[in-house]
Amino acid sequence: MKYKTQKIAYYFWALSILLLVLQITYGFIMGFARIGMEGLHEIIPFNTARATHTNLLVVWLLSGFMGAAYYIIPEEAQRDLVKPKLAFLQLISLALVGVTAIVGYHLNWWEGRKFLEIPRPLDWLVVVNVLLFLGLILVTLFTGKRKTTTALVLSMGLFFAALLYLPGMIQFDSQTMDSFFRWWVVHLWVEGVWELIMGGILSFLLIKLTGVDREVIEKWLYVIVGLTFLSGILGTGHHYYYIGVNKIWLIIGGIFSMLEPLAFMAMALFAVNMYRKGEKNHPNKIALYWTLGAAIISFIGAGLLGMAHTLPQVNLYTHGTLVTAMHGHLAFWGAYGMIVLAIMSYALPNLTGRKRYDTSGSRLAYWLSNIGMLGMTLAFGVAGVAQVYLERRYGMDFMDVQNEIKVHFAVLIILATLFATGITFYVIEFFKYGLPNDEALDMNLD
Ligand code: HEM
Ligand code: HEM
Ligand SMILES: [Fe+2]
Repeated sequence: MKYKTQKIAYYFWALSILLLVLQITYGFIMGFARIGMEGLHEIIPFNTARATHTNLLVVWLLSGFMGAAYYIIPEEAQRDLVKPKLAFLQLISLALVGVTAIVGYHLNWWEGRKFLEIPRPLDWLVVVNVLLFLGLILVTLFTGKRKTTTALVLSMGLFFAALLYLPGMIQFDSQTMDSFFRWWVVHLWVEGVWELIMGGILSFLLIKLTGVDREVIEKWLYVIVGLTFLSGILGTGHHYYYIGVNKIWLIIGGIFSMLEPLAFMAMALFAVNMYRKGEKNHPNKIALYWTLGAAIISFIGAGLLGMAHTLPQVNLYTHGTLVTAMHGHLAFWGAYGMIVLAIMSYALPNLTGRKRYDTSGSRLAYWLSNIGMLGMTLAFGVAGVAQVYLERRYGMDFMDVQNEIKVHFAVLIILATLFATGITFYVIEFFKYGLPNDEALDMNLD
């Protein structure tokens, strides 16, 4: 059965899509700056564009996760969301905080802490916003008719993600201490609790799309949660190699972070196995593509490309180079970008009442964006490896190296155009079928 308050999800996703488009715009600004076309330099210097690009990424993903929770939790708990009006208030405040932060970055109001550039006073507004969100979701879940493993894992991920925002708000004078706790947010998010969010959404999608028994699917979810915590928590050590903390982290970080791909591998095996086991012939094939794609590409981008530079002997040379950007792009895209686009692709027809799923637009969106992003990853990778050898092994000057690798950014721009074309198709498909409505929900398409 469907619940009327599930419509709220649509509006969070619409915000998410708009921010994705904006993120890509800033990606292009940087790409062009890298080949010397810096017309915007006076207004949007590279460092501002970079902070804006990565922060927009985080906000569109969070808005996507929140939409997913507003869609999934009522259906799993079998009740409407409590206080739906407050959810709209939460959406508006999220958008306002986001816009303030972005405008602030252009006026030089930001902190030089990668990914956590939001100035601390604004952090408090983020905290209020997220508390409101969690309150709505958790009260709905715990006053609902059932508390499924899928819903609990998803909520647990969201809850711990909120909690882990706090260590990033502490003020330190020491660079080492600041860095140490910054990773509690950045690393423990993407290689810890966000994996639970991903696992929860993945599990929901597989239950709906493959028709395999919930019991079977949720058993896998326990394995994923277990592997994530086992490897991810101490895996934080791969960011503590040469920052001024005890050397023991070289060993701890090396060993445990090498185990991290297991959780992503489990997710990929999980998704593919459920697909093969599934007997349900769900008409929404494109949602299934995105779902399987997320599980597989995240294993490549996060798991394999993460492994490529996680040993201290390697990271000594690759740290902070374009090798990191190579991994960052495919990991974020595969794991979190794709799972958000998967849940949207699945839910939107149900919300708007459209019965056509497998349109050529939706297929072009899928293939162009994925081929484009894989190509971009290669371009970053080639540039990154060249940078590591020239700069770090042979001691060439930083700026001279940047000049040498310029050509790879020309390639990057071409592939990014392919990616952006795919996303354009996705955006058209998203808005083409109109707003969510009660009649559609009454039809209970699934
Ligand atoms: C048109 C598409 C895009 C282009 C041209 C682009 C380009 C760039 C560039 C040039 C950088 C800075 C690299 C440097 O330091 O020189 C960057 C950083 C980054 N981008 Fe993108 N990007 C695009 C889309 C995306 C998407 C869709 C995602 C995520 C799903 C993403 C995630 C990131 C991340 C995580 C970083 C920071 C990487 C790091 O910490 O080293 N980008 N991007
Ligand atoms: C979906 C999961 C993941 C995402 C979204 C992700 C994304 C990122 C991003 C954006 C960075 C740059 C962070 C910064 O400098 O502030 C980074 C760094 C790093 N990641 Fe991941 N990652 C993921 C999983 C993994 C896994 C599983 C491994 C190891 C197997 C790994 C290994 C590393 C390492 C070693 C660095 C440090 C790079 C450096 O020293 O510059 N990552 N990751
Ligand atoms: Fe990490």
